[in-house]
Amino acid sequence: MRILITAGPTREAIDPVRYISNRSSGKMGYAIAEAAVEAGHEVILISGPTNLGAPVGLEMIPVESARDMYEAVRNRLDDSVGAGIFCAAVADYRPRSVPDRKIKKKEAAMSIELEPTDDILGSVRSAFGFGGVLVGFAAETNDMEANALEKLERKGCDLLVANDVSRKDIGFDRDANEVQLFFKDGRRESLPMQSKAELGVTLVKVVEAMA
Ligand code: CTP
Repeated sequence: MRILITAGPTREAIDPVRYISNRSSGKMGYAIAEAAVEAGHEVILISGPTNLGAPVGLEMIPVESARDMYEAVRNRLDDSVGAGIFCAAVADYRPRSVPDRKIKKKEAAMSIELEPTDDILGSVRSAFGFGGVLVGFAAETNDMEANALEKLERKGCDLLVANDVSRKDIGFDRDANEVQLFFKDGRRESLPMQSKAELGVTLVKVVEAMA
């Protein structure tokens, strides 16, 4: 099967030298990509900037901003793709205007006006007409179940993988993760804490079973 995976953070420029980003390392998405290659799938990995080396045996598309990632997904998510796994921590807002020159320091306080970015996962069914297996992730600090179920429905996913990012031992920039799976058909599953590499293998099997 051909599988498209998004991973890592995005960077939203403030000026030519500064940006807004988040703490995503890309480890979870890369682990899924590696497990999918290992299982014999054809993988397209659309990744924001990370410190990880490009995994071998797949097509890597590096991007910077949420807009770049949106365009890359729109270009590549065609009928040949059997599953889309949206693991990236996409910025929800970007600076409304980006000057060509570095912003100079002044004495007064300053503020930056932000505008919303496009919801990539949320566009996949409605705007891109994707009919394959759709997997979203949810990073939550509170009300995990309610938020996960709301995202599953709103973004048209078959599976939502939720993790609690308020915990220091798992999730962002850690090597291990503990997630709960919420399926469209109402099934739920809590997976035990495991390395992201192991979780990648598990999630690829779950996606294969849904395809
Ligand atoms: N996502 C996306 N494009 C965005 C924002 C999020 O594709 N602009 C995807 C993520 O890759 C993830 C899912 O949507 O698979 C949920 O991301 P999350 O940040 O938890 O949800 P948001 O929609 O941003 O909602 P909120 O920030 O209110 O929790």
